[in-house]
Amino acid sequence: MRDVLDLVAKHDEWRLRRTINLIPSENVTSEQVRSILASDLGDRYTLPWGKEWHGYVIENSYRGTRYLDEVEALGERLAREVFRAKHATLKPLSGHLAGMMLLAAVCARGDRIMVLDSRVGGYDGYMPEYMPRMLGLQVEFLPFDESEWTVDPRAAAERIAASRPKLVLIGGSFIVFPHNLRALRKACDEAGAVLAYDGSHVLGLIAGGAFQDPLREGADVLLGSTHKSFFGPQGGLVVTDREDLYSQMVENFTWRVADNAHWHRIAATAQALLETRAFGKDYARQVVRNAQALGRELEKRDLPVKFAHRGYTKSHQVHLLEAGLMKRWGIDPNEFSVRLERNDIIVDSVARIGANEVTRMGAKESDMEGIADLIAGAARGEDTREGVSALRKGLSLSYAFPA
Ligand SMILES: Cc1ncc(COP(=O)(O)O)c(C=O)c1O
Repeated sequence: MRDVLDLVAKHDEWRLRRTINLIPSENVTSEQVRSILASDLGDRYTLPWGKEWHGYVIENSYRGTRYLDEVEALGERLAREVFRAKHATLKPLSGHLAGMMLLAAVCARGDRIMVLDSRVGGYDGYMPEYMPRMLGLQVEFLPFDESEWTVDPRAAAERIAASRPKLVLIGGSFIVFPHNLRALRKACDEAGAVLAYDGSHVLGLIAGGAFQDPLREGADVLLGSTHKSFFGPQGGLVVTDREDLYSQMVENFTWRVADNAHWHRIAATAQALLETRAFGKDYARQVVRNAQALGRELEKRDLPVKFAHRGYTKSHQVHLLEAGLMKRWGIDPNEFSVRLERNDIIVDSVARIGANEVTRMGAKESDMEGIADLIAGAARGEDTREGVSALRKGLSLSYAFPA
């Protein structure tokens, strides 16, 4: 049997030191975040309660929590500051569970929600057979403009007025352009619906002011993963100005969605929020510039990049046209990802390319030419490992405090 430590060391050596990672759902964390994840906080509990139990009042079901409770309060304060919201929680263990806390807070069995269809990049977890089926919810899809790759605001407003859903939840896994939330806000007000934005993919860009600003544009709630364009540990967060929704969502955490919120993760997220407060603006702007440059450079090398008419992207993602890959290169997105992985370039197998992690590793627009050359070479079946290794050696963690 192989040793666990040995496997992890091999993984780290490969993924952390030798590969160029272009998966839009992933990122790298700072030394400080890593050391917090390995701290004693990962072995502890806290459960502030303030309730009577067996005839006496319990303040906290556990003891020894004084620093741990302060860390959570600090993290929530930082999240409120970074996202300019009245309320924040870092309790959700993931973006998915933040979504579940929202669905359970806003909807009752039999209620209708409106979401983006996964056919146009909506998050799979909101498709009828997944969370909605578990929670007994009806799902309707928001009208979508495929050429602009955004919700069609006029048609969506009409559907919201006709369907009167309890919740309109905008959550895209394939997201390149901001949605018109203001148009939806008006329709939601008239229909009495909650408008929520799952910014799992674009959270780091929202935090840095480089994408859209859902809470200012009309969303009642912003939730998401903390490890995609936001460079924290794997986890989730929720921010909102609405005290009613905040309390209902937090209430849905303990003993409904989970028991333990994993305090090393919360502390590490607080550290990532500190880094975001200090460096998040520059990072987010550079991510978008890099993604746009990568789109341009890939197209120059005959890769079928979508949305040239809109400048390819305004987020961290660039999308390739599957049919175009097949027609021009004779490979599907899975084969594309396999050929790249052979050369230590890591992409997902659904034709998305993300500039977030290489940006955190210090890459600038000028590096996108080299990256595009390596991608095109690997996709043609050439051995580009030496070039990848040379490029990788020139990158190092940026937008972080000194280790
Ligand atoms: C829009 C969206 N929401 C939620 C999730 C789930 O995130 P997590 O893996 O943090 O649960 C994803 C995952 O890709 C996503 O794209």
